[in-house]
Amino acid sequence: MRKQPAIFLDRDGTLIEDIGVLGDIKDVKFFSDTVSALKKLQSRYKLFVITNQSGVSKGLVSLEQVGRINCCIDEALKKEGVNIESWYVCPHQRNENCDCIKPKSKFVLEAAAKYGLELDGSFAIGDHPHDALTANDMGVFGLYLLTGHGARHLGELPAEKLAFHRLGDAVDWIIRHPAGHKDISRQIELGARLIKEGKTAAFPTETVYGLGADAFNAAAVSRIFEIKGRPQNNPLIVHISKIEHIEKIAAIIPDKAVSLAEYFWPGALTIVLPKRNEIPDIVTSGNPTVAIRMPANPIALELINLSQTPIAAPSANAFTCTSPTTAEHVREQLGDKCDLIIDGGACRIGVESTVISFTGDRPLILRPGGVSIEQIESVIGKVDTLSTAVRAAESPGMMPNHYAPRTPLALVSEITPNIAQASDVGVILFKPVAGIFHGPVEILSADGDMAEAAMNLYAAIRRLDAMGLRQIVSTKAPDTGIGQAINNRLEKAAGGRSI
Ligand code: TXA
Ligand code: MG
Repeated sequence: MRKQPAIFLDRDGTLIEDIGVLGDIKDVKFFSDTVSALKKLQSRYKLFVITNQSGVSKGLVSLEQVGRINCCIDEALKKEGVNIESWYVCPHQRNENCDCIKPKSKFVLEAAAKYGLELDGSFAIGDHPHDALTANDMGVFGLYLLTGHGARHLGELPAEKLAFHRLGDAVDWIIRHPAGHKDISRQIELGARLIKEGKTAAFPTETVYGLGADAFNAAAVSRIFEIKGRPQNNPLIVHISKIEHIEKIAAIIPDKAVSLAEYFWPGALTIVLPKRNEIPDIVTSGNPTVAIRMPANPIALELINLSQTPIAAPSANAFTCTSPTTAEHVREQLGDKCDLIIDGGACRIGVESTVISFTGDRPLILRPGGVSIEQIESVIGKVDTLSTAVRAAESPGMMPNHYAPRTPLALVSEITPNIAQASDVGVILFKPVAGIFHGPVEILSADGDMAEAAMNLYAAIRRLDAMGLRQIVSTKAPDTGIGQAINNRLEKAAGGRSI
């Protein structure tokens, strides 16, 4: 009989909400997409749950209690038509150095032997870096969820691991990419071939998805403007994969620009410098300057590398619309227009790069973004910033009403009873607030973490925008660090509206 691949699922924060130590069945709360996601998988995969319950060795819950709860969850899933083949529980704490704790492969190997599993082509899914690395050495491909503790531990996740907002998103990715990392490699190779042929490819970066073309091919770059419906007076960022390639693009590179590149690249910082003649005018909208960035996302770096040319890329959204932070967002707006969309999961930063210009007397921030102004000043000292109005003239893409949803969005300093009671008003909050809301609410971070809020911002705006609401209202983030980038995008989405 042909061996079957498997999916190894984490329990808390993956299938059900993570409430810490779970001792009572009445505290089990499934995520809304758990059943539908698992149903999609089971025709092809055997499903297993591997869960670490360190509360057992801490004496907070008994192994029997854990067993009873797992049994109840298993029965609830069975009733919905989902069959979990077997449950594995590690009852230890990390310092006990047992063999069964994730990411170790003991349970996976046990399951493979007992059920005749094909581990190449199998996946592990969970909301902790250890889940995503489970049996990595055995060829199991791990996917990371931003549910549960996922957002909090994102900094510990290796760069090459893919992250997803929800279990359903990870499952959809598996269905499109059954060969896991081999499928990613194939997509990157195809993307590089298309770029070399003068075509376009959308790809993930750590900030937002980009729509790329060969930066030295004017005809290819002009396709980007057509696809996005973007006016040609709005210049593009040229993406490179090696810091020294900056010399192929910029004519003059001041010392402070070198310091920033060395410190923040690869990363969410774009540096505007005088351009070399070889860069086609269409890339820079005829400007004598060019914007350059080395992204950190390994898929983006590999794509640029294999393409053997710098890639000019704006965000992969229709002009003036909200930027995409998942491949699905790109498909919704540009699906039938670009030649390829490489799906690398959710963008980890979620707002665009910071743009800094070195073409005047002093370094000037043109757009706040993923690297904060405080971080930049800690490397090169004081920089100038412009008011939004002046910025609009200086940097053509900085026009107000960029990043806008179709539903009118307004900024508020507090949520009034009128807002909370309107069922046709969607609300964006940066952390949970007390009160009863009659309309839909998007809480960008359960513990008010602004990096997490940035990562969730555009997806939340899109979800609310799809609901046919009369209005979206958003509070503002604290105006420091990445909060400045968040507020900048919200102000543009609001187009000056506030109530
Ligand atoms: O994070 C990002 O920067 C993403 C990813 C894909 O890298 N890209 C992105 O591109 O946001 P785009 O085209 O949506 O925004 C580029 C910004 C625009 O505001 C544009 O005006 C500015 O960079 N820019 C580009 N070239 C410039 C130049 N020569 N002088 C001044 N501003 C420039
Ligand atoms: Mg978990």
